[in-house]
Amino acid sequence: MNRSVTNIPSGEEQGTIIPCPIEPQTTKVNVKPLHAGFVASVDTPSLDRQLDEETLNAIRHAWRQHPVLIFPGQDLDPTGLATFSKQLGEFGDDPYVRASKFHENIIEVRREAKETAPIFGHSWHSDWSFQAEPPSATLLQSHVLPPFGGDTVFASGYKAYEALSSAMQEMLLPLKAIHSARSAYGPKGLFAKDDDTRSMKIIVSKDAEETCLHPLIRTHPESGKRALYINHVYTVGIDGFKESESSAMLNYLFRHMAQPAFIYRHKWRENALLMWDNRCVIHYADGGYTGHQRIMYRATLAGERPVLR
Ligand code: SIN
Repeated sequence: MNRSVTNIPSGEEQGTIIPCPIEPQTTKVNVKPLHAGFVASVDTPSLDRQLDEETLNAIRHAWRQHPVLIFPGQDLDPTGLATFSKQLGEFGDDPYVRASKFHENIIEVRREAKETAPIFGHSWHSDWSFQAEPPSATLLQSHVLPPFGGDTVFASGYKAYEALSSAMQEMLLPLKAIHSARSAYGPKGLFAKDDDTRSMKIIVSKDAEETCLHPLIRTHPESGKRALYINHVYTVGIDGFKESESSAMLNYLFRHMAQPAFIYRHKWRENALLMWDNRCVIHYADGGYTGHQRIMYRATLAGERPVLR
């Protein structure tokens, strides 16, 4: 699977602010859309405390417009991240990765300088899309960043859907995709082959072989927009298609979705929190920092059963 994407403008290069008159004005939340077209940088007061409704509503509104939000200047510890997350919704159910010792709903995405096992989240995916009700949001807070590399890369499912011809859209609309965690967490999956240098506690299980059907195109419950809803790690087929047919179709769609025009590469800076919408973006954790430590704190928020309307 080809993850490498060249000539993608990074957050800094894309940092040109574009005017966006639809943002509600509050004195506390300042939303700056970035050029990628689905990403915004949001200045807010410190998020690790009880926020007033006006601030929360402005954040929710910004997130509906921009499925990837960057909150610079936030240095949330696991408790602070949990405090902010639960004001936006219920926590999601995070299987296959043991929770951090700090909080039962926070995962530590951790890689030590000496680790040689594959990077966690290193291929395109939408978090836990094999669940019947996959998470709506993921929040990722930087804690220790390597001196270089370690970007997180996003692709927009809205843009990918909108760029298809109407004939192709019509063909895809009735289809259901098959999702499974097997290639990552199953007994023959990636993590079953780990060496013992991995510092994250990953749980390999036969349960990961279960499958779940989701519409290949889903309608976002809040924006009402349609998005291509497939990903390289967890989408393993198309219901009713032969293996050879579905892999040809999926490979075409994976390549389509990972085009530079639909991508945003986030270069982390100290003290940043990211929040993305798994219902309409896919992402992967890039490498390029071997020999250095990287530690992030991660929370997910519960979602709903994907539907097409
Ligand atoms: C993830 O896929 O949840 C982790 C992303 C990252 O570490 O950048």
